[in-house]
Amino acid sequence: MERKLEALQEEALEKIASARDLAELEQLQVEFLGKNGKVTGVLRGMGRLDPEERPKVGKKANQVKEIIEKELEARLQILKADQEKQRLQEEAIDITLPGKPLQGGRIHPMQLIIEQLEDMFLRMGFSIEEGPDVETDYYNFEALNIPENHPARDMQDTFYVEGGLLLRTHTSPVQVRTMEKQTPPIRMITSGKCYRVDELDATHSPVFHQLEGLVIDRGITFSHLKGVLIAVTREIFGAGREVRFRPSYFPFTEPSAEVDVSCFKCQGQGCSLCSRTGWLEILGAGMVNPRVLEMSGIDAERFTGFAFGMGLDRMAMYKYEIEDIRHLWDNDLRFLKQF
Ligand code: DAH
Repeated sequence: MERKLEALQEEALEKIASARDLAELEQLQVEFLGKNGKVTGVLRGMGRLDPEERPKVGKKANQVKEIIEKELEARLQILKADQEKQRLQEEAIDITLPGKPLQGGRIHPMQLIIEQLEDMFLRMGFSIEEGPDVETDYYNFEALNIPENHPARDMQDTFYVEGGLLLRTHTSPVQVRTMEKQTPPIRMITSGKCYRVDELDATHSPVFHQLEGLVIDRGITFSHLKGVLIAVTREIFGAGREVRFRPSYFPFTEPSAEVDVSCFKCQGQGCSLCSRTGWLEILGAGMVNPRVLEMSGIDAERFTGFAFGMGLDRMAMYKYEIEDIRHLWDNDLRFLKQF
């Protein structure tokens, strides 16, 4: 009986040593120590032994059982460690490989222009004001001295919305809102979207951007207007680009002017972009019409002022030499990445 046990122990240890995975190990546990296992079988057959043999064989059987259990446990630890090592090897990351480049965001050229202009006007003591995109007829037209039958009110130019409201056709209504709220001296700018019924093409968009400015104080003259606007064009286009003031007409200013910069494409020689004139128009301006001041509650006997409105999309195109206004809206990364 004892020899049989020793043979079983030997067999078990050999098999355990060569077990290659956890499943095989479990199998061996069942084979030798399970309910119907080989060692268990020996213990069960002890009833047939001589009474004085029993304790000896019982002790031996328990020893064998313990040894096999211990070996199983030891092998289990080794196999587990091997498995872990293999897993780590398979999942290893090669930290010497080059990383994937991160895509950084860029500031949109329209926002670049707005921020550059805002910084400049803040340095000159202007405040930044805001107004709604959906406006009343009063602020968009009436209070700016645009009479009932003026072409700018034409259904073809203005987007009307329900309730007698409209989408502002320019940023000038914010001038009126500011004059109603503040008392002179006033130095303000505002910028944002404007809307006009227009076919979308390379140089026109039904949604566009303007930056509006207004200065009101005692003794403000056209020279102040010129000084500020020349500073602005220098800031945006550099000192190399020429600037010209051209007489014009706006109902809300008198006298009025339009301001051009020399064409970047032909350096003022005349080309298709500037319609052979050598000049590109960027803004309208003038001395605020006294009627406009009075309508907003400012005493036109004591105060004068100037105002201007710039087309920011045009300015961005002329500054960054963008030939098609649609690039500003297309969100094509190949375009946006250049800024
Ligand atoms: N509101 C005008 C436009 O949209 C631009 C303009 C011209 C604004 C003269 C002004 C100004 O403030 O004084 O065409």
